[in-house]
Formats: sequence, structure tokens, C-alpha cells
Amino acid sequence: MALVLGIESSCDETAAALVDSERRIVAQRIASQDEQHAPFGGVVPEIAARAHAERLAPMIAGVLEDAGVTLEDCDAIVATAGPGLIGGVMVGLVSAKALAMASDVPLIAINHLEGHALSPRLADEGLDFPYALLLVSGGHCQILRVDGVGRYRRLATTIDDALGEAFDKTAKILGLGFPGGPAVERIAKEGDASAVPLPRPMVGSGEPHFSFAGLKSAVLRAHESGRYEEADIAASFQQAAIDCVVDRLEVALEGMQGVETLVVAGGVAANASVRAALEGVAGGHGMRFTAPPPRLCTDNAAMIAWAGIERLSMEGFAPDPLEISARPRWPL
Ligand code: KG4
Ligand code: ZN
Repeated sequence: MALVLGIESSCDETAAALVDSERRIVAQRIASQDEQHAPFGGVVPEIAARAHAERLAPMIAGVLEDAGVTLEDCDAIVATAGPGLIGGVMVGLVSAKALAMASDVPLIAINHLEGHALSPRLADEGLDFPYALLLVSGGHCQILRVDGVGRYRRLATTIDDALGEAFDKTAKILGLGFPGGPAVERIAKEGDASAVPLPRPMVGSGEPHFSFAGLKSAVLRAHESGRYEEADIAASFQQAAIDCVVDRLEVALEGMQGVETLVVAGGVAANASVRAALEGVAGGHGMRFTAPPPRLCTDNAAMIAWAGIERLSMEGFAPDPLEISARPRWPL
């Protein structure tokens, strides 16, 4: 059995976790920086990097203590090496390097998107490759075919905003604060999803790509018109966004042969209406649907640790060299 330490610091969550190859999250701690960034309406990179630098080392000590293990009991130290806000990524990766060097435990550098992409396998033991993956977070909006660890084929991406970004911008327009996704979901429950006519960008296009900038602008115009209740705008926005996602997935799934499971991951996968709509898409294609529990959808270190476990169990595994670089951009 393998046990690894995972570290995540690519955006605004500082997180550390110990995960084993039996899919047990042995210990985990996570600190959100929402309060620091809220006054600015979005994540401020330098504030994020400083907060990671302050919190990460005591947090790592804390999870080791929670589990009653030492670094030397770990089979790898796994850190996000990008993509993300570079200051934060460097804090996490350099910490992992120092710990690996001091303990002589192998280092594994993980692509944050790979962490999201494999997270459903941590939660669902029965999830085998290949699967169709909708990866929807604050920075990314993609449809991928996942054929194995390290074998990702991207079928669609966004030509402007990510889906989580559209939720965050809608929340900002409606004055719901930061982070926006959960707030929009909450007030949408009290609204009428057909009250505000909003566009469905890209719907009907033969390529499965996404676009959300036009939807955000329409939300802004609807709000400025003064004609609509906030809850109705939120509900109508959420429905329009879901309609876009469903249509785009339908197009992407047409071109995917031999895939029996549809999976959603990333922060927006925490949204219950999004999950319900995707379950419907999967049902229509005779596919199984799976999504990690909400706490594994938003950024966390357990998914990074799990991606490390997946790498460790591959034939021909080799640790990453200590000179590996942090990468602000890193396509999967
Ligand atoms: O995966 P994540 O924590 O960070 C990135 O890698 O980007 O995703 C954060 C994004 C934010 O845009 C946030 O508003 C969105 O996920 N999000 C949600 C919900 N919870 C988080 N969007 C819609 N509904 C939610 N319940
Ligand atoms: Zn993420």
C-alpha cells in the first residue's frame, strides 16, 4: 500500500492531504482565502502567494500530525506544479522539493488539471478508463476523453471565459460577493429560470467549443435594465449556462466512441443543477454518470495526492527531478 502527501496552492486554497492507494483520505486540511480576496471581488495573486507562504508549512506539519505519520512514511511528495497563479504554485512546489530533499522521498509534480481529471477515480472505485470528462472550474472549461493516466484528448475548450468565471462574473454583477458560484446557485433556487431572456452562445454549432462572454454581457444588460429580480437573473443565467453545457456535450459525445461513462469535475461540478442536467445527458446516451462529492470538486490537495498515487502505480514510474519548474500555463 502506498501513502502520499499532496500539496495544492495554485489559486486561492492552501491545502495539504495524505491519501493512500486504498482511496482513503487519511488526513486533510484546507484553508480558503475568500476573506482576503473578497474586498477585491476576485483573487489577487500577490495576496494569494503570501497567504500560501504563511500557511502551507504549518498545514503540512498538521496533516502529518493528524495522521500520526512522518514524511519518511510517505512514498511520494506530490505538489501542483501548474497551471495557476505562479507565486502560489512556486510556494507549493518549492516546499515539496525541500521536503523531498530533506526526507529523501520521491517528488511528483502534478498538473492541476490532471488532479481534477482523475479526482472522480478517488471517489469512485468502479470508474475505469476510458471516460468522457467535462472539466469546469474557474480557469478552465473543457471536454476531454480520458483514456488513461497521462492520456487525455481535449475535444473542446472555451473561446473566452470559463464556466466558473461566468458564475463569478454574474455574482459580481448581482452584488453577491466572492466566490460567486455557490452564491449564484443559492439565490437561483428562489428565481424563475424563464423570467429573463438570455442567449445560449455556441448552441447549434457543429464544433463542441464553449463561449460565455456574450452570456455575461447579457446578464449585465438585464441587471442594468432594472426590470428583473436578482434571483430571476441568477436562475435564468444558470439555466442558460446549463443549456450551453448540455448542447456542447451532446456534440462532443457524438464523436466519442466506446466511452461508457460521463464524468464531471472541477469547482462548477459542485453545482447540483449542473450535476442533475449532466445525469440527464448521460442517461440519454445510455452512459453511467459519476461526479466526485462537492468537497472534491473545488480545489483540494486530496485530488493532487491521488494523481500522485495514480502516477506511482504506473509501470516505469520515475520521480520528477528537483529542478522541475513551476508553470503558469500548462495544457493537459
Ligand atoms: O476548481 P476550482 O476550485 O478552482 C479552479 O481550479 O478554478 O473552481 C472554482 C470555480 C469558481 O469559479 C467557483 O465560482 C465555481 O468553481 N464554483 C461553482 C460552485 N462552487 C464553486 N460554480 C457554480 N456552482 C457552485 N456551487
Ligand atoms: Zn482547480
